[in-house]
Amino acid sequence: MKKLGVNIDHIATLRQARKGNFPDPVIAAGICELAGCDSIVCHLREDRRHIQERDVRILKETVRKKLNLEMSLSKDIIEIALNIKPHQVTIVPEKREELTTEGGLNVENNFKKLQQSIKSFHNNNIVVSIFIEPDIEHIEKSRQAGADAIEIHTGKYANYYEKGAEKEFNEELSKIEKSIEYAKSLNLKIHCGHGLDYQSIIPLLNFQDIEEFNIGYSIICSAIFTGLYNAVQEMVNIIKK
Ligand code: PXP
Repeated sequence: MKKLGVNIDHIATLRQARKGNFPDPVIAAGICELAGCDSIVCHLREDRRHIQERDVRILKETVRKKLNLEMSLSKDIIEIALNIKPHQVTIVPEKREELTTEGGLNVENNFKKLQQSIKSFHNNNIVVSIFIEPDIEHIEKSRQAGADAIEIHTGKYANYYEKGAEKEFNEELSKIEKSIEYAKSLNLKIHCGHGLDYQSIIPLLNFQDIEEFNIGYSIICSAIFTGLYNAVQEMVNIIKK
């Protein structure tokens, strides 16, 4: 059975827009779990633009199934992760100027650091996934570094789908397919995520070996529209009654 991890960073982005307490991603996580998701994903960025350390600490206590912390390999963030001990970490590249995680991690360039930190995570019973492009060499290196799982970056795939760029879409899909086969042959668990929505996920459901999808933006955007009617009605009722 495929699993869904919901990324709640986007709730925290809204909260940080007013720097207040609302909407609280911790409450969002509870609702996501009640709705049946299998894990909660959040990214503690070095610039703290959305998720705060406080969120991760409380989520570790409140998430019932699995807390998957996305993180860079910065020393401070590794220390926080080893202290909070989420069930899983997903190592991602991070650039301050980017709007969202652009591209997968260059595993080769970060190999030594990865190997060392994966050892520390394993010593603390934390499962490690690495966010990479669908590329055989990165998969091979992820295995050598000791990762338990890879998360295939579906950003390009989702973009080509949205634009209707059929040729590029098929090429990217074929890269994803080859990556899945190769990762499976190395006994790596296979996750996928970034940019997926209610349509672009469908072709990926054919791949038996994808265990987990991590999705945020499209779900939170959809929640605005499915919830807006009730939210307005509630305020109308308060004002007019
Ligand atoms: N997986 C990883 C590793 C990510 O960095 C992100 C974005 O934070 C996601 C999944 C979810 O992407 P989206 O919000 O576009 O669904």
